[in-house]
Amino acid sequence: MTQSADTAPETSALPQFPMRRTCPFSEPAEYAELRENEPVSRAQLKVNGKPTWLVTKHEHVRQVLGDARVSSNLKLPGYPHQFHIPEEMLAQVRLMLLSMDPPDHTAQRRMLIPEFTARRVREMRPRIQEIVDEHIDAMLASGGPVDLVTALALPVPSLVICELLGVPYEDHAQFEEWSAAMMNHELSPEEYGAAVQALDMYLDKLVTLKENEPGDDLISRFLEKNRTEQVADHVDVVTMARLMLVGGHETTANMIALGVLALLEHPDQLAELQADPSLLPHAIEELLRVFSISDSGTARVAVEDIEVGGVTIRAGEGILALNNAADHDESVFPDPGTLDIHRKEARSHLAFGYGIHQCIGANLARVELEVVYGTLLRRIPGLRLAAERDRLRFKDDAMVYGVYELPVTW
Ligand code: HEM
Repeated sequence: MTQSADTAPETSALPQFPMRRTCPFSEPAEYAELRENEPVSRAQLKVNGKPTWLVTKHEHVRQVLGDARVSSNLKLPGYPHQFHIPEEMLAQVRLMLLSMDPPDHTAQRRMLIPEFTARRVREMRPRIQEIVDEHIDAMLASGGPVDLVTALALPVPSLVICELLGVPYEDHAQFEEWSAAMMNHELSPEEYGAAVQALDMYLDKLVTLKENEPGDDLISRFLEKNRTEQVADHVDVVTMARLMLVGGHETTANMIALGVLALLEHPDQLAELQADPSLLPHAIEELLRVFSISDSGTARVAVEDIEVGGVTIRAGEGILALNNAADHDESVFPDPGTLDIHRKEARSHLAFGYGIHQCIGANLARVELEVVYGTLLRRIPGLRLAAERDRLRFKDDAMVYGVYELPVTW
């Protein structure tokens, strides 16, 4: 028997979304119950009271993200917004890669793919190593304790993405503040809008500069290719730069800090990685799985009726394909709440999404994580937490999960 939104209970009786993690290494407790009892279920978005579908099983999340009958277009009615965006503001929004559908998405993504191939990212590795070493030198020189977030986790990916895009790093304090505001579920629409506008004005000037004086950077190369391909206008390039800048540092920064915390809490596995760094790439997949930091970043809206797990999702209904829920699906990852750097199925995680929008920066993120964790474990083998674990503040209120500060010493 199939069920549709029409037969679902009244919105007011529905579970509220987002649901919070009670343990940083796991999923919100409600996800496991939903996966068990109602893997494709209705919920109400806290931000605007609108209904959405929640998808919590690994196979269903993959199915939704791979289905051409779902759209990423956040302007479509029914799209499950997690911020309150007033109608007039939404009308002004320019779609970015993440929210485009084919063929526009295909054309823009094709222009960007060469920047993120495994070979290109390998070429960036020596510079990433240099950046990491400089920051660890500064940490060691300070004598500790330090906040690992401000000393290492945030500046490394921020510098890497700045150099790739051709954004002056001197301006990082500004754009990191705007970017953090854009990830915060709890800001007012005005505050959210102001952060987007400020960052766009900044990038607008930068793109104009590169239109006139191109450099050796991603934005300049994109503009150059675009002269013949004609897939984007000036505003599209500004919007693309915003997505890259925000997506390129906030996510990786959170993963660096959470990953270090997880290893400090699992000293046996940390010791194994110190003894044999070749285990690191696989361990990183497991860390990505356990945290799945961009859980609800994979929002969609059905453009035709689709059936998922025996449930009919009607055209026009919003869907959150929850990758943290998928990555804790016990039918794929036995004992999912346990960190196991040898877990053989770790690579099946969906932390980078799946399908046409799968993270374009995944290769880059993996190399950044490998260089940071590897160098930290080698150069500061006695690293330890310098705060009570219970006092750490986690980003329960943000689109991308993380930890605000991570005091460490050695
Ligand atoms: C650990 C770090 C990261 C995580 C967990 C992550 C996660 C994700 C996820 C889940 C998606 C899919 C969204 C969807 O399906 O709607 C995505 C897309 C994307 N990510 Fe990442 N990301 C990370 C690092 C990066 C980096 C370093 C960049 C640098 C440029 C980046 C740029 C993007 C872009 C541009 C997209 C949109 C791709 C498209 O729509 O075709 N991400 N990311």
